[in-house]
Amino acid sequence: MTHQPTNAPARRLSARAPFGTTPAGEVVEQIELANAHGLRMSVLSYGGVIRTLHLPDRAGAFVDVALGYDTLDGYLTDTAYLGALVGRVANRIRAGRMTVEGRPLTLAQNADGNHLHGGMRGFDKAVWRMEPFERDDAAGVVLSHVSPDGDEGYPGTLRVEVTYTLDDGNRLHVDYRATSDAVTPVNLTQHGYFNLHGAGRGDILDHELTLNASRFTPVDDALIPTGELRPVAGTPFDFTTPHRIGARIGQADEQLRLGRGYDHNFVIDPRDGDDLALAARLTEPHSGRGVDVYTTEPGIQFYSGNFLDGSAVGKGGHPYRYRTGLALETQHFPDAPNHPEFPSILLRPGAEYRTSTIYHFVVRP
Ligand code: BGC
Repeated sequence: MTHQPTNAPARRLSARAPFGTTPAGEVVEQIELANAHGLRMSVLSYGGVIRTLHLPDRAGAFVDVALGYDTLDGYLTDTAYLGALVGRVANRIRAGRMTVEGRPLTLAQNADGNHLHGGMRGFDKAVWRMEPFERDDAAGVVLSHVSPDGDEGYPGTLRVEVTYTLDDGNRLHVDYRATSDAVTPVNLTQHGYFNLHGAGRGDILDHELTLNASRFTPVDDALIPTGELRPVAGTPFDFTTPHRIGARIGQADEQLRLGRGYDHNFVIDPRDGDDLALAARLTEPHSGRGVDVYTTEPGIQFYSGNFLDGSAVGKGGHPYRYRTGLALETQHFPDAPNHPEFPSILLRPGAEYRTSTIYHFVVRP
């Protein structure tokens, strides 16, 4: 049976429009996707950024819940990875060092001597090829990028394709694919920040979060996992039932101290038979705006925006202050190459990297 939306929008895709030019002279474009229920999001070819995301509240009032910038300049100088695709390897790798099949590998060290989010010029700083498409019940863009051999220290030419599909079920599908001609670590994620009051409208401490994770990976003072998989039970990291983010964030807890709040990878509890597991459920109780995150990935980084300090001036001139946005980054575990006990992130020639994450936008009663 084909799904025939009764109220399909007049236009699911806007025309691509120029958004600016990088210092290297590359033209950056923006495109907007819409669905039958009035959800709209805009995507940039720069960094594959989701720049805006308009979601309704219980009364049907839409606000833009994605942290982002009005101009390309904001993205060129951004250090918070607002809305961007992150790679080759998201999160931290200790000292940017690892051994791949017996060979030592040194990656760019861009965060206190460690490798973070792909290095100095990760995928968030690349201009991607962007191809829009339309279906009866959805619209989307295919973003593609070729990361050359030696890029930020990574071996092999990596061909990456990320597809965003916004459907009439109010789901945003993010499908990641990659192939390489040499063995390389790969761990891609989407680094969007949500504030379900609307970006620039206060903090996220009243948002209610559920994480389908009975364990997390505690970190050291460099925010890198120690290797332990620790049960969340009895700690402020227990989000297996809904909790306000602010409810326990100020507790005297060693892990909260090291993370400066929540900045940790949670180990998703898979359910037999599901391709994608429910990882997270976020709700802003006053408006009812919510998002459920499903993924094929084994982990999710919950980052409560602890490094936002007001220096990034976002859309509409709003400075993004402390904890005014939160990220839920589906991923393999941080520093996986240095923890053989963690699921491997090595991609071999001839194999295909494939992961999927779905953000289901809902309005809760
Ligand atoms: C990390 C934070 C980091 C931030 C960069 C997050 O994914 O978990 O530690 O500061 O990205 O803005």
